[in-house]
Amino acid sequence: METPGSARTLRELQKKKRRGERIVALTAYDYQMARLEEIAGVDFILVGDSMGMAVLGDDTTLRVTMEIMLPHAAAVSRGAPATLVVGDMPFGSYEVSDEQAVVNAVRFLAEGGTGAVKLEGGNPRSVSRVRAIVDSGIPVMGHIGLQPQSIRKTGGYRVIYSDQRDRMLSEALALQEAGAFAMVIESMEEELAGEITRLLAVPTIGIGAGRLTDGQILVVNDMLGLSGDFSPRFLKKYAALDTVILDAVRSFASEVTDGVYPGTEHIFPAKDDR
Ligand code: KIV
Repeated sequence: METPGSARTLRELQKKKRRGERIVALTAYDYQMARLEEIAGVDFILVGDSMGMAVLGDDTTLRVTMEIMLPHAAAVSRGAPATLVVGDMPFGSYEVSDEQAVVNAVRFLAEGGTGAVKLEGGNPRSVSRVRAIVDSGIPVMGHIGLQPQSIRKTGGYRVIYSDQRDRMLSEALALQEAGAFAMVIESMEEELAGEITRLLAVPTIGIGAGRLTDGQILVVNDMLGLSGDFSPRFLKKYAALDTVILDAVRSFASEVTDGVYPGTEHIFPAKDDR
């Protein structure tokens, strides 16, 4: 039986690149959201470590651990059984050694049910991790440009401009050569992301990287209007669920306060009254 992480599924993404068809991806962290994304037909779902901010209320991704990620990965995999689900390797899960990276990548597939993993960075250490994980039979998505797990080193969430062109091109090529099946490009000047996209045989998936990448990904809570006043330039909000939820909670509160809810239709009457 074809599985969402199979070579054929991954080749579908490459086929889209070759045909110039855009790849659509979103993050998800729970069963219901994954279910809806699958029904809507996204090409893949990332269980992102952005969960630290989007769901857990942190201001970085750095406190997210494997123990936090795995149950969410499993829930997303259950919600979207026919879609490629990618588990985002959190900070501290692959830094130490290739062996540590393989052990944790295996956990994503075995315990989280994902079809692939993603890790940040294109330096020689990250490239080595990608190669080791791919060698163990697990598909890996690369991630270049802004790397949220490295903000303590880089000093913040900074856009990558073409003064870093040579490094970006060589990182992208090194990750592809190591076997990455696709690459996230985060927060990058549009032209540079376009140049990387033209250079690579594998698809690029942009977030804040302009219009020239092979696909786009957004953090689902952000695009649904569930992340407060977080409004970076690249973000388009496709819904205002914060308002919908506020209205619903206020209606519930006032109906409970006024004794309107529960109504007769919501109660379990005595057996004789049915
Ligand atoms: O964690 C995440 O959601 C990500 C996306 C920004 C690509 O890595």
